[in-house]
Amino acid sequence: MRKFIFIFILFIGFNFLFPQKFKDLAKTPPMGWNSWNKFGCNINENLIKEIADAMVKNGMKDAGYEYIVIDDCWQIARDKQGNIIADPKRFPSGIKALADYVHSKGLKFGLYSDAGTYTCQKRPGSRGYEYQDARTYASWGVDYLKYDWCSHGKQNSEASYKLMRDALYAAGRPIVFSICEWGTTKPWLWARDIGNLWRTTEDIQDCWDCINDWGGIGWTLILDKQSGLEQYAGPGHWNDPDMLEVGNGGMSDKEYRAHFSMWCMLSAPLMAGNDIRNMSESIKKILTNKEVISLDQDPLGKQAYKYGDFGDYEIWVKFLKDDELAIAFLNRGNRPINIIVNWKNILKKTGLRKNVYKLKDLWKHKIIGNTKSIFKTKITSHDILLLRLKKIP
Ligand code: GAL
Repeated sequence: MRKFIFIFILFIGFNFLFPQKFKDLAKTPPMGWNSWNKFGCNINENLIKEIADAMVKNGMKDAGYEYIVIDDCWQIARDKQGNIIADPKRFPSGIKALADYVHSKGLKFGLYSDAGTYTCQKRPGSRGYEYQDARTYASWGVDYLKYDWCSHGKQNSEASYKLMRDALYAAGRPIVFSICEWGTTKPWLWARDIGNLWRTTEDIQDCWDCINDWGGIGWTLILDKQSGLEQYAGPGHWNDPDMLEVGNGGMSDKEYRAHFSMWCMLSAPLMAGNDIRNMSESIKKILTNKEVISLDQDPLGKQAYKYGDFGDYEIWVKFLKDDELAIAFLNRGNRPINIIVNWKNILKKTGLRKNVYKLKDLWKHKIIGNTKSIFKTKITSHDILLLRLKKIP
């Protein structure tokens, strides 16, 4: 009996801390679009509406993209009661009307705020207004909140994000909670029950491996910082290596294919960051490759781990449902490389030695062999070979 009462109390406590309707959020990594990478502060309601229209028309919605998120700069001040006010010049119809529009397209709507006094672009942050802002967002129909970490002073990160999480719970509308403290206090160690995703690094830049003077870095350098974090990701709580740069013009199609492939291997949130109203066919094909996206959205939710590191050449492995595997062979160097793959070793090391698989090239959309024979190929510079191992019954 005592045991029963104890379990009952535990159950009540758990439900109080983690309301039922928030439980189903982000079971697979969230997919959508965010205004920051391409537009910065140059945003307005027409742009957001056009982006929503484009997402429906260009096949992205059909491929799984869902959230339209407005990043920094939508907010301008607080009124006398402390309510947050949207910039009336850029958002004359108000945020609620915009959220309604996005919802009318069958999509979801997201906003940005900051745990400190100011956002990174010096707009009002939510510090001291957490519960009030959460109620406002819920009343507007917000489905996703990205919560930044500028001007946090001496605030404790875990306590600050917990406070906003509790405010969102109290407001009662299920809102995906995206923690953006750039990995500085290792959120993977404390954020599992606080947010649905947490940034692991500084800001991504639209380049292969550049380092910006204020701290932004290219995607392969971000990739380096994901290795070892795979143990912390899973349904409902994801490592976030930042939004996509695919289509922003700083890299070749081949390089964008590699970037997109690795984000899918990492079970990363797939937030497109380009102008999806005007995309080349090749960029559209990258962002809407359903076979590649299905790695990201695999229900097991296992982030890839680095299987082999040979300097410029890396092998990453991702476990998928039904004992399938995804394998990425990434050439980070400036010269082509010839690779020889002995599947026996890989299958033994991954514990799948009893199975036989077909090799599906997910960019060529072709079966290119099976795991019974040794596989040889060439990978050109800054390119990737992305395979799904499909079980032969
Ligand atoms: C940064 C954040 C970016 C973007 C920017 C807006 O802190 O990492 O993704 O949100 O602020 O000012």
